[in-house]
Amino acid sequence: MAKSVTAFTCTACGAAHKKWAGRCEACGAWNTIIEEAPLSQGPGRGLGATKGRAIPLAPLTSAEAPPPRSDSGMEELDRVLGGGLVPGSAILVGGDPGIGKSTLLLQGAAAFARKGLQAVYISGEEAGAQIRLRAQRLGLADAPVRLGTETNLRDILTTLDAERPDLAVIDSIQTLWSDQVEAAPGSVAQVRSAAHELVTFAKRRGVAVVLVGHVTKEGQIAGPRVVEHMVDTVLYFEGERGHQFRILRSVKNRFGPAGEIGVFEMTGAGLSEVANPSALFLSERGQPVAGSAVFAGIEGTRPVLTEIQALVAPSTLASPRRTVVGLDSGRVSTILAVLDARCGIPFAGLDVFLNVAGGMRVNEPAADLAIAGALLSAREDSALPADCVLFGEISLSGALRPVAQAENRLKEAQKLGFSQAILPEARKVEGVSGMSLMGIADLTGFVGEVFGAG
Ligand code: TYD
Ligand code: MG
Repeated sequence: MAKSVTAFTCTACGAAHKKWAGRCEACGAWNTIIEEAPLSQGPGRGLGATKGRAIPLAPLTSAEAPPPRSDSGMEELDRVLGGGLVPGSAILVGGDPGIGKSTLLLQGAAAFARKGLQAVYISGEEAGAQIRLRAQRLGLADAPVRLGTETNLRDILTTLDAERPDLAVIDSIQTLWSDQVEAAPGSVAQVRSAAHELVTFAKRRGVAVVLVGHVTKEGQIAGPRVVEHMVDTVLYFEGERGHQFRILRSVKNRFGPAGEIGVFEMTGAGLSEVANPSALFLSERGQPVAGSAVFAGIEGTRPVLTEIQALVAPSTLASPRRTVVGLDSGRVSTILAVLDARCGIPFAGLDVFLNVAGGMRVNEPAADLAIAGALLSAREDSALPADCVLFGEISLSGALRPVAQAENRLKEAQKLGFSQAILPEARKVEGVSGMSLMGIADLTGFVGEVFGAG
């Protein structure tokens, strides 16, 4: 007998449900469960009904060379891909609508094409004329990229199978529809089936396939995890709308390190690469001001300096405001609590605003000390030295924990003209001369040393 068949799926987490409900029990999201066409699963299809074929098993050792990678010549893009494009890999590029995904991939496809790869760009969102106009504006009209506009999955696969390009960009996965799935384009069933077909095609034919995916307002790629686990590489294109900076971040990569970032600037003529992001994120700094702290961070394999800005003002509200942009607000609450409980510095009755300059997002726990520094500096109205960077993780006891890659952080800071650093004292840092280092054991010590109180 056929087991019960999934008919309802949560569009947020992909969980399967037997019946419709207003709230998904798996992830707690509301109004995300939709009906899907059931899987055709006839009787007698269970395991053991027919005898399978034994698959050959092989040792891990391999005489094969690692896959040859292709460079696009766009360094930021190549780095995020893990050192170039791997043939036959499937890549998902997610991001908010309008953030610049189509622009990035058109530029990327053109760059690869100019390096001699056969590149095909299939758009299901824009008309051919529109894309050609954009290509002209970006100065790419002469690049040997072949353009198609189609949403029918079967036609796209037939075309790609006949053409056998090296790289195929599909913009976007949400517009594709397969006539074998009875669901609307953009539904979980369609997105899953289209992604599955395209990923299988990529593996079988050695074509690198790039799928563009729009992110829903909850921050997930619609039809979400289902696509993320199918592909080899997941890249997110992020940025604040009001800022011109865009960050391409690898959150999963089977062919390279995850967490790597590439920094771009959106200009009138498309995206231009930013080779030295630290200089860019710090570029607005002038005289030392209260509430500003420079964090020496690591993004992927690369050190990046960012400025953390805090403003603390008396509040008229019963529960004061905590506005946090570019940082994890849970982390900020923890640091505020530690400052209160361990150092006796309360923020009750004070509104707190925190921001990372340049529209950057900082997720590292190593930013704790810089956050605390910015908060204290704003509260005490006393500026930190302008040529000083901070890093270190704060534990709930108030102790400062050492963080990875201290040398790399310091070297980057030194390169950009910083001559002092405040860091956890626990670890000996070698290989940096000419910088004065202040090792701190705990937050109370930090308050005492830097703000002369505590
Ligand atoms: P787009 O690549 O269409 O975004 P997505 O595919 O992620 O939806 O980019 C759209 C935005 O980028 C649009 O608001 C205009 C801006 N833009 C520029 O500023 N300069 C340019 O050269 C291009 C092509 C776009
Ligand atoms: Mg687009």
